[in-house]
Amino acid sequence: MEELILQRPTAEYAQQIMECKKEYLAADSSMDGCGPLRRTDDPMEYIQKCDLEESPETCPAELVPATQFMLVRKADNKVLGFLQVRHEFNDYLSKFGGHIGYSVRPCERRKGYAKQMLQMALPYCREIGLDQVLITCMDGNLGSEKTILANGGVYESTIHEPNENMDLKRFWITL
Ligand SMILES: CC(C)(COP(=O)(O)OP(=O)(O)OC[C@H]1O[C@@H](n2cnc3c(N)ncnc32)[C@H](O)[C@@H]1OP(=O)(O)O)[C@@H](O)C(=O)NCCC(=O)NCCS
Repeated sequence: MEELILQRPTAEYAQQIMECKKEYLAADSSMDGCGPLRRTDDPMEYIQKCDLEESPETCPAELVPATQFMLVRKADNKVLGFLQVRHEFNDYLSKFGGHIGYSVRPCERRKGYAKQMLQMALPYCREIGLDQVLITCMDGNLGSEKTILANGGVYESTIHEPNENMDLKRFWITL
């Protein structure tokens, strides 16, 4: 088995973070679980924003505290994907966003990394005091749905998200 780690974004990964962003854009892929990556092209600003969002003392008022992880393959220190854990809910997250968002960089998809990344994040969710997590995925996103189900997700309901005009499936994982 390959050795994988969950790693917070740091300066060591600045160049790779931007390579990932380019890859997502080139593939016209959503950047789920990448936190503020969509909103900046400066990797150091991204890293700093992620740091600030983690703590309730420094998290911007319009956001809830959240921890940003990247999945890194130890053998070549390559960033494979991104996963964000939201510590609490606001109205949008409680309905549509859920506790966890994630994505795998396009060139590393279909290799089992999403399933492993989610599995590795669940102990952290327990550590921060959550006893169950809500994860949502767009109806028809089979890869994400299988990732959730493989990690013990139980389907609850489907809800319409009006901003993006899409149906989202809601799943709960008991920790
Ligand atoms: C969804 C996503 C995270 C899956 O990542 P991944 O690393 O390719 O997933 P895995 O390799 O761990 O695959 C998990 C399961 O889904 C299946 N799968 C993955 N992508 C699939 C696809 N496009 N179509 C059908 N099945 C797919 C895999 O075969 C595997 O099934 P199995 O359990 O029967 O073996 C990735 O496609 C992605 O980042 N998409 C864009 C962002 C996104 O949709 N994030 C989720 C938001 S809720």
